Formats: sequence, C-alpha cells, structure tokens
Amino acid sequence: MKSIDNVQPNRSNDDDERLLREPVLTPEETDEDVVLNLSLRPLQFSDFIGQDAVKENLRIGISAAKSRGEPLEHLIFSGPPGLGKTTLAHIISHEMGTKITTTSGPAIERAGDLIGILTNLEQGDILFIDEIHRLSKIVEEFLYPAMEDYKIDFVIDKGPYAKTIKFNLKPFTLIGATTRSGLLTAALRSRFGMHYHLDFYPWPELVDVIKKSAQLLGMPLDEQSAALIAQRARGTPRVANRLLRRVRDYSEVKAQGEVNEQITIAALTLQGVDELGLDEIDRRVLRVIIDTYHGGPVGIESLAATLNEESDTIVDVVEPYLLKIGLLKRGPRGREATELAYKHLGQCRTGDGQKEMFGRA
Ligand SMILES: Nc1ncnc2c1ncn2[C@@H]1O[C@H](COP(=O)(O)OP(=O)(O)OP(=O)(O)O)[C@@H](O)[C@H]1O
Ligand SMILES: [Mg+2]
Repeated sequence: MKSIDNVQPNRSNDDDERLLREPVLTPEETDEDVVLNLSLRPLQFSDFIGQDAVKENLRIGISAAKSRGEPLEHLIFSGPPGLGKTTLAHIISHEMGTKITTTSGPAIERAGDLIGILTNLEQGDILFIDEIHRLSKIVEEFLYPAMEDYKIDFVIDKGPYAKTIKFNLKPFTLIGATTRSGLLTAALRSRFGMHYHLDFYPWPELVDVIKKSAQLLGMPLDEQSAALIAQRARGTPRVANRLLRRVRDYSEVKAQGEVNEQITIAALTLQGVDELGLDEIDRRVLRVIIDTYHGGPVGIESLAATLNEESDTIVDVVEPYLLKIGLLKRGPRGREATELAYKHLGQCRTGDGQKEMFGRA
C-alpha cells in the first residue's frame, strides 16, 4: 500500500526534529489521524482486535435487532480516549447496514441544532454523539422524548406567540461516547439500553493492532519492534498507531526505511516515551505531585494550575493510565503518587517527604 505521510527526502534538520517530536498523546484527533483513521480504522467486527465481550454482546444485539426488523437499542460506550469507541459506532452502522451521522456534545449548542439532524434520520439510522457528557442540560432534556418515543416538541417564538411544534421521528439508534461516564446524569444514563465500558488493551492485543497497521501502511516491522511499541503504547490502540508512525518517520529519515529493535528504541526515546509508555506530561504530573506537593494528596485543580494544563486533559488523558499501572492513587482528598511512581522516576521517599535522587530507574 502507498505511504500516507509524505516523507520528503530534502527536508531541513528543523523539519525532521519537528516531525519526529510531534506529541504522541493529544486527546484530539490530529489531521494525520483523520487521514489515517480512514485507512486504519477497522470496518467490521472481524478486524476490530480485542474487547471480545463487548463485541460478542454487540453481535448478539445487532443480530436480534435485524431479525426483528427493529433499530438497535440506544447504547453508550465509555472509556479512556483512543480505545475504539468511535470505531465501534462506525462498525455497528456498517453491520446494521444503516447510515451514521456524527456530532458531539459541545457542537450542539442549542436544542434547535438537533432538530435538523434528528428529522433527517431514516429508520434504523445511527446518531453518534461523541463527548455526550458535555451536552447542555437543555439539549439533554430535549433528547429524552426523542430517545424514548421518537418524538420531539419544539417551541418557537416566545410569550403570547409561543407555539409548540411536534415532530415524529423515524426510529433510530443513539450511540453516545464518553470518556467520563461519571459525569452523565442518571436520567440520561437510564435511557440507554446498553452500556459498554472499554478498558485498556493487554499487550498481545496491541501487538496485533500494530502488526495489522504496519501491514496496511506497507511498512516492514520485525517482531521485537512490534513488541517494543506495544509495550509503550499505554494500552491504547490510537497511541500504538501513532508510535508506529513515529517509528516509520524515524526509519525513513534516519535509516533508509529499515526498522529494527535499535531503530525503534531510538525513535521512541526521541519521542520522550519511556519503557512504561509514559511521556513528558505523565512524568511532569508525577514530578509535580512528588516535588511540589510532597507526594500528595493534591486536588486536581491545584495540580492543573501548577502544571499550567487543563484539568480535563489530566483527568481524561493522563490519569487513567497512571491509575491503571499503579503509579497514581486517587482518593477523596486528591491524587497521590505511589511508591512505584517514586521508583519509576528514580526518586526515593524519606521520612518527612524530602526526596533523594539516586539516578533514573
Ligand atoms: N480494537 C481495535 N482494533 C484495531 N484498531 C483500533 C481498535 N481500537 C481502536 N483502534 C484504532 O485506534 C484509533 C482510535 O480509535 P477511536 O477513534 O475509535 O477511539 P475513541 O475511543 O473514539 O477515542 P476518543 O475518546 O478520543 O474519541 C482508530 O484509528 C482505530 O483505527
Ligand atoms: Mg472517538
């Protein structure tokens, strides 16, 4: 297959550095993601690696809905970014043989924004709302009758001229995705018939994701390199694919396209990604907790202010993996670094919270 990134042979060193140091962990999709997602995003369950219980439940739900000639029940996917929520929504639409319309919580500012979308849905179509926890209260309440009875009431004008217009909708399926299921209101949550949580992928599944993507990109990749990338991909297919692309860039710019263990390690190290898959922002979070807040506990807002980062980025992107691998603890009083975090950063904890450096782990 043709290479998607255009790696030009005559770039300056500055260009090379920029290309090679692009952030790995942005929560948003970059332009590169958008292009690559079209080619790397699985289109059917058989290409979607892992999450077997979720896939099996969905297969059963889809098959039952199809045989009854009904739309699939509304469903919601939760879990950290990059684990396949959007991908699964597209696969469902593909397997149901219906159209998918995508939007997101913050994009729907007024209830009126939804009317056009909802009235354009055909029987069985899918409406995908990303970041559904960020819907405004008014929009959310407007959705309730649409979800329950496929009806909407819309009030036009104000005061004595106010009129309620009723629309009947065609039965559709709402698929919501959220990185913060805790922020969903109970009322909205209860209107979904299925709720699936996606968890981080185990290492062997990430190896499979990486091998498959390398194949699609027409990139030669040895076993050890695939294993190394998977080890540092923080349980996340999107990160795995990004790291793979950075290794590909590095090998094309510095090693005439050759990939081996040494080249892969060099590329990943240049990205600032360590053996546990932590990158600069993960380490900054841990260091600030340890150095500024004596190991914690520290509240998320203080932490975000000290780091000069959005608290959402820390909560959605950084924290879930640090919690998962046991470098961070979260309690009622805030975030705390664990012994493992001290060890990983090459610091040791002594009596009164003073730390001594004894070299990087
Ligand atoms: N199980 C999987 N098998 C193969 N590729 C996957 C899998 N899950 C995700 N991917 C790939 O990872 C990328 C990110 O997936 P996706 O966009 O679906 O994540 P997401 O959960 O919607 O993330 P976000 O919360 O940031 O919107 C996609 O390009 C997709 O191709
Ligand atoms: Mg998504």
